Amino acid sequence: MSIFGTTRAAIDPVAIPLDPTGADRAAQRLRSAARRDGFAVFTVEDAHASGPQAMASTAALLGLGRAYVPAIYAREAQRFGYDSDGFNTISAAVTDSGHRYFGTGAAQGFHTDGTLEGIGVVASSLLWFERAAPEGGHTTIFRATEAFEVLRSTHPAAAASLMSNDALTRVATSFQPQQSTTGPAFADLEVGLRTRWADDGNEIWTFNGESGQLRELAVARMREYSRPGSPFRTDLEISSRTGLLLCNTRVAHGRTAFHAEPGERILLRGLYTSEVR
Ligand SMILES: [Fe+2]
Repeated sequence: MSIFGTTRAAIDPVAIPLDPTGADRAAQRLRSAARRDGFAVFTVEDAHASGPQAMASTAALLGLGRAYVPAIYAREAQRFGYDSDGFNTISAAVTDSGHRYFGTGAAQGFHTDGTLEGIGVVASSLLWFERAAPEGGHTTIFRATEAFEVLRSTHPAAAASLMSNDALTRVATSFQPQQSTTGPAFADLEVGLRTRWADDGNEIWTFNGESGQLRELAVARMREYSRPGSPFRTDLEISSRTGLLLCNTRVAHGRTAFHAEPGERILLRGLYTSEVR
C-alpha cells in the first residue's frame, strides 16, 4: 500500500475478521479513519475469503445494511454486473454495459457514486480490489466538503451558487435516451454539509443565468483544490485483495488511467444508503 502526492504517511489497512463478533477495535479504526479522511482502507484476516465475503463482513461490521442498487440500474441489474447481493463487478472484461468507465482503462475524474440519486442518498461505497491493475489505476480522493468550507469562508457568494437547485446536472450515459438529475453540488443537511461533486465529464454545470459567473468562479476554485499537490487531495495505490471505504457524501473519488488485459483488473463495488460515523 502506498500513498503519494500528499504529505500524509503511508496507510496501514485495517484487518477485518470474517466474524464481526468482538471486532470492536477494527470497527473503531475504520470509523475514525473515515471520520478524519472521508475514506478508509481494509483487508480481511482470512486470506481465502472471497470478495463478496470481505464486502459483506465489512458492511456488517459498520452496520451499513444491504447494498443498494440505484433505481436506474435496478431495472437492468445484470447488464451492469450487479449480483443478487447488490454488488457489481467492475472489470476490464465488462465492455458491453455501455457504462462510460466500467469497461475501459481511461482515467476518470472526480465524482461521487450514485449522483443520479438525491444528494446524501448513496452515502457510502465499499470497493474491493480483487485484482488491482498491473499498471496504473490508482485511486484519487478529493475531500470536497473540506475544500468547500474554505471556499465558503473566502468567497461566500461563489460558494452559495453551488448550493442552488439548478447548480449541477449529472448525466448517465448508459441509457438511450440519456438520463440526468439536476440538483445542488453541496447542501447543508441535518447531518452536516454533504456533496455530490462531479467533475469527470459526465456533468453539466449551469453557467448561465443570474449566478452563472459566480458559479464558474466557484467551480474553477474547487478544481484547483482537487489538483495533485492540493492538501484536499490524496492519491492511493491500492493492492490486490484490499478494500476501500468511501464516505461518498463528503469526498469525491476518481482513478488514474491503467493498462490491464481482460480479467487483470477486477473490482467489486457495493453502494450503501447508511453513513459511517
Ligand atoms: Fe465511482
